[in-house]
Amino acid sequence: MNNPPMIPHIFVTRQIPENGLQLLRQKGYVVTVYPEDRPILRKELLAGVKGCTAILSLLTDRIDETVLEAAGPELKISANYAVGFDNIDLEAAKKRRVIVTNTPCDEVNESVAEHTFTLMLGLARRLTEADAQAKTGKYQGWSPTLLLGMLLQQKTLGIIGLGRIGKAVAKQAVKGLGMHCIYYSHKPDLAFEKEYKAEYVPKEKLLEQSDIISLHLPLLPSTRHFISTEEFALMKKTAFLLNTARGPIVDEKALLRALRTNRIAGAGLDVFECEPAIDCDVNDRLELKSFPNVILTPHIGSATKEAREAMSRVAAENIIAVLEGNPAPNPAQ
Ligand code: GLV
Ligand code: GLV
Repeated sequence: MNNPPMIPHIFVTRQIPENGLQLLRQKGYVVTVYPEDRPILRKELLAGVKGCTAILSLLTDRIDETVLEAAGPELKISANYAVGFDNIDLEAAKKRRVIVTNTPCDEVNESVAEHTFTLMLGLARRLTEADAQAKTGKYQGWSPTLLLGMLLQQKTLGIIGLGRIGKAVAKQAVKGLGMHCIYYSHKPDLAFEKEYKAEYVPKEKLLEQSDIISLHLPLLPSTRHFISTEEFALMKKTAFLLNTARGPIVDEKALLRALRTNRIAGAGLDVFECEPAIDCDVNDRLELKSFPNVILTPHIGSATKEAREAMSRVAAENIIAVLEGNPAPNPAQ
């Protein structure tokens, strides 16, 4: 007699919006959600994944050989609740034939793009300084020179990494603000260039010509410290750097030196090299937090209700596809 088919068991490493979990339960899967509202501890992760068929992981979870081993031979997929998947060891997953997926979708791409704009506009118009002045009683009346910023119209936006999010930023910048777009990416996109009058340029040229430089690369060994001392040396002194991708793409020490010496005009950062720490070295008196021309947000690029629900749905759809023997819609490899 054949054994009855195993009921798939999905381990979810933290509470996420219910809509995706509902899809999984409707399939009859057993869904276990880690109940605490904080990143799961390593030992809890190793215990929790034991025997599961799918892991629904967060970018704060390191999914490596040890976790895959702890899960065991039933594991078919590790679905990351994020666009980035640098927290997952793809080689280890491949060896075990575990599929890795992510959650790119319009809601996420547009949310991150809008947040990139929030940082860009905030820097250009010195929003955090202005807000502080208004709230602390420092405002003494209108002045022709008070808090002068930079007009973005007709300025040059340099996009590094023209993936889905990079494109969403470029589109809004060109069509909405009338900016000029140049980009550097792993390959040129001619249709995009035509529609948005964008220009593909080498990395050096992009750094030299941009008024705003915005990073939209995945974190890979080849993109770690993609922006370091040499790159800052090429930038305009009036340039702003935006990072809504991954912290280690920017060499924080080099960024601090660039800010200290006014090598660039400022930075808008949603991600940090030593996350969750904002500053790698808290004893450094030149820490990022001390610069008025730096706007910091705590990794909230995709933090809209719409995006987080879409991510829940997309992660579940990937799990369902794989467990039903279909290709994953969003494979990472
Ligand atoms: C967030 O950083 C993500 O990768 O989705
Ligand atoms: C991805 O954004 C790339 O262009 O490499």
